[in-house]
Amino acid sequence: MAEEAKKRVFSGVQPTGKITLGNYLGAIRNWTPLQEQYDCLFCVVDLHSLTVAQVPAELRKNTLDLVALYIACGLDPNKSALFIQSHVHEHAELAWILDTVAYVGELNRMTQFKDKSRKHADNINMGLMNYPVLMASDILLYQTQYVPVGKDQVQHVELTRDIAERFNARYSDTFVVPECLVSKTGSSIKSLQEPTAKMSKSDPNDNAVLSLTDDADAIRRKLRRAVTDSDTDVHCVHHSANKPGVSNLLNIYSLMSGTTVAEAERLFEGKGYGTFKDAVADVVISVLQPIQAEQKRLLADKSYLESVLKDGAEKASCIAQKTLSKVYRKVGLIPKIR
Ligand code: TRP
Repeated sequence: MAEEAKKRVFSGVQPTGKITLGNYLGAIRNWTPLQEQYDCLFCVVDLHSLTVAQVPAELRKNTLDLVALYIACGLDPNKSALFIQSHVHEHAELAWILDTVAYVGELNRMTQFKDKSRKHADNINMGLMNYPVLMASDILLYQTQYVPVGKDQVQHVELTRDIAERFNARYSDTFVVPECLVSKTGSSIKSLQEPTAKMSKSDPNDNAVLSLTDDADAIRRKLRRAVTDSDTDVHCVHHSANKPGVSNLLNIYSLMSGTTVAEAERLFEGKGYGTFKDAVADVVISVLQPIQAEQKRLLADKSYLESVLKDGAEKASCIAQKTLSKVYRKVGLIPKIR
């Protein structure tokens, strides 16, 4: 297939805090197969992270860690553009134009904005409210057809579609109206301590979250402490509301080992929770250890990482420039004299 004919995919993760097993199973891992079929851009969205208070040195470290993690998880810089959002200045510039098309009312209604406003009541900054417009800018800048995201981001992609359609109606056809590719599996990874809530990297309880950087001991300890249920048999109907803890662990086991939940359930039928939790720990460790080793190796190879980021930003800029100048022209800005 000719390069031009390939449909475009864009996605990103914030370099905020620790990347969780939920991020891996719900996002990054699902992106790898897309690289074969689509023209993919995968971004570390550092500008988004600034919407909550960051320690600058930590943000720098987390950003590079995440770039290395992308590659360690199988995102291939030869197939996809891997880049840092702030390296392509058009993201912030297009966001300003889209701001003039987005309504305060619709931003005010966003679930994530309301949640984060509650969580960070002392820092409800404009960026937090504007977050979805910057995300729309990320997506629309590349004339993206497909946006692979977890369930919690669907509302933002829908807003992106509304903004694109509104802009197109007002200024004539400019943007591709993108669609979500929602992962059916990983977005349902739950907290180990409160298995009805999502496993979230901002959870203050460290025992609730499996981080991709956890070592074998931490993984085993957290899984042993995971909340299950009061009876001792591993048996549950998947998605049943009465055993959410066991369901969650079976789900993790199945996604990490490639067996179905039904098979996993059969495998542990009648076994105690101790054996079951250890088996879950074994499979999580066996998948994460090679990724962690590769991430570490990449982080030590600074010149390689820099070359990936330089290439990625160049590829991205090339597309971003075209879209932004088209947008500037459409809204009536005078092109710069060169
Ligand atoms: N908001 C997304 C999240 O928290 C991250 C993100 C920013 C993103 N820009 C994006 C995801 C563009 C997909 C496309 O998960």
